[in-house]
Amino acid sequence: MTGLMDTPKPITVPTVAKSSPAHAGLEDTVAGESSICFIDGHRSRLIYRGYSIDDLAKSATFEEVAYLLLFKKLPAQSELKSFSDQLKSQRALPNQFIERMSSIPKELHPMSVLRTLVSALSFYDPDAELMNHDSNLKRAVRVIAQAPAVIAAWDRVRKGKKTVDPRSDLNHAANFLWMLHGKEPDALFSQAMELYLVLLADHELNASTFACRVTASTLSDYYSGMTSAIGALKGPLHGGANEQVLKMILEVGEVSHVEEYLKKAFAEKKKIMGFGHRVYKVMDPRSPLLKEMSEKICVKPGNENLFQITEKIEEIVCSVKKLPSNVDFFSATLLYSLGIPVDLFTPMFVLSRISGWSAHYLEQISDNRLLRPRAEYTGALDLPFIPLENR
Ligand SMILES: CC(C)(COP(=O)(O)OP(=O)(O)OC[C@H]1O[C@@H](n2cnc3c(N)ncnc32)[C@H](O)[C@@H]1OP(=O)(O)O)[C@@H](O)C(=O)NCCC(=O)NCCS
Repeated sequence: MTGLMDTPKPITVPTVAKSSPAHAGLEDTVAGESSICFIDGHRSRLIYRGYSIDDLAKSATFEEVAYLLLFKKLPAQSELKSFSDQLKSQRALPNQFIERMSSIPKELHPMSVLRTLVSALSFYDPDAELMNHDSNLKRAVRVIAQAPAVIAAWDRVRKGKKTVDPRSDLNHAANFLWMLHGKEPDALFSQAMELYLVLLADHELNASTFACRVTASTLSDYYSGMTSAIGALKGPLHGGANEQVLKMILEVGEVSHVEEYLKKAFAEKKKIMGFGHRVYKVMDPRSPLLKEMSEKICVKPGNENLFQITEKIEEIVCSVKKLPSNVDFFSATLLYSLGIPVDLFTPMFVLSRISGWSAHYLEQISDNRLLRPRAEYTGALDLPFIPLENR
């Protein structure tokens, strides 16, 4: 007899270097070289192209940081002027693009909408498939310029409001708040927005940047890279954490409720959003900078107790769980105080990080090898196939 009685031929299983449990989730795995961003997780250091985040936060605008990430050096005055002018001149969205927004279901999460809208920007780019460095760089500058308009326009369209045209007399940060609220922000609000954009611009091979680079490594187009990244950022373990943090703060409601709330959360082994980090073993260096700004802007009427609640949560989580706060913790109160709707918090992350993703997309394409890891197979082998009628 042949068939079922035959001894199955042994399958040769390819040798794959075994990942130790310590590397689960690719922890500490170096997946490539990059000159964009350096994190020293043991010494609380974050560096963009050689410059410390503390210096950039204190002295640089988002435009300077975006230039630094894309062009690998800080701009001279004339270069910054020309770059800022380029951004300003490309801020407006095509009318048809805005008109089409009205057909999108209003109740969708803005990150789902943004994932589609950033991809849809390619419809208005006749050279979207052109893959040389210069055209990708031009494309990146245009998309960085348009991202604020996409987010602000969607928020207004979904609320049945008229969209607000960009203003060329405002910088990137202030212009976004203008387009969102239809009101010019005061100096402190502009400064807070600027700080947020500078601090979140890049962060090495986090999940969304890695997703972007994996897509770039297939030589897929720029828009595909950005769309992959937005999809990865949406999750609550990554960019989606900022929204969850604010929900937690609002749920707590009063400083006097913090202890009780956390006691219950710890007992239920819940993860406290805005704490812990894969790379930082000590303080996330962005966190104290955001905390300082949060304290300044939370004094606005109505938000006074928010900062006190966050401080109390931080104090207890740090002492009980030994977990420092991460970038999403104090950015939640900062964004809320800026009047940003809570479900727009993760799109705000995109507004900044699209500059870092763009730099990584360009870097990946410039010296590419397909990113294609292996899996350690844990399934069965050599199972005899059972015909459908016998199962
Ligand atoms: C960021 C994060 C995903 C890193 O994850 P990771 O490196 O895979 O670490 P783990 O989730 O394996 O956590 C390690 C341990 O710390 C605990 N831990 C980590 N973050 C925690 C948190 N925010 N709250 C409570 N416990 C936490 C885990 O439960 C785990 O404990 P265990 O070993 O007893 O099971 C994780 O810290 C987290 O989920 N934080 C909340 C979400 C967040 O703020 N994300 C934004 C990151 S910038």
